[in-house]
Amino acid sequence: MPTPNGPLIAPSLLSADFARLADEVGRVEQAGADWLHLDVMDGHFVPNLTIGPPVVAAIRAVARRPLDVHLMIEEPLRYAGEFARAGAHVLTFHTEVAPGERGREVVRAFRDQGVALVGVSLNPDTPIESVAQLLGEVDLVLVMSVFPGFGGQKFMPEVLAKVRWLRARGWGGLVEMDGGLNARTLPLCAAAGTDVFVAGSAIFGSGDLGATIAGLRASARSAWADASAGGPA
Ligand code: DX5
Ligand code: ZN
Repeated sequence: MPTPNGPLIAPSLLSADFARLADEVGRVEQAGADWLHLDVMDGHFVPNLTIGPPVVAAIRAVARRPLDVHLMIEEPLRYAGEFARAGAHVLTFHTEVAPGERGREVVRAFRDQGVALVGVSLNPDTPIESVAQLLGEVDLVLVMSVFPGFGGQKFMPEVLAKVRWLRARGWGGLVEMDGGLNARTLPLCAAAGTDVFVAGSAIFGSGDLGATIAGLRASARSAWADASAGGPA
């Protein structure tokens, strides 16, 4: 199970300029991105359409950092091979589309395709218990802190309890948080036990990407340190 040496910052390219994707990838990598978060939406699971395997492959061809592919689609099983071949390093599906035994099937399919890390995600109104049966099989749990579909929404603090629940029951894999993260909300996620931080509008909407990413990473580190010292929140 991977344990990162420090907090991982994963800028969401949903907030990038899609007409200049290669430049945006270079810009955010130069600025210190650890992973590149790619939001795949099918217009069914979420009310928005974004990119598919050809665009993921095009990004892979110019990227140096791992691609963290977040599938907000109804049929992850059907597209597992395509996204793996497109170069997804981390491949995450939503538990809502594959509850129970079907979730295990998706995990197996992703592993068979050889992706490095397999993740399961859940919407803000999906109870954390719904991923309990998969915890022994996935590498990462992606906790949504907004309803998926769009960037720039407001962080929902009530989902922090899900991260605490995972850590309290001894989950040793990665916990990633996605939606509404910024300098104010990210430390709350870090203190709860999050290791991977997705941020779209907070990073791409800032004037100095390098300073923003460094600031987010530093605030996560200090929240980790405070939490392990039993300090603030
Ligand atoms: C929401 C996506 C997020 C989104 C995050 O459906 O999964 O990755 O792009 O954007 P911000 O950071 O702006 O909330
Ligand atoms: Zn996402």
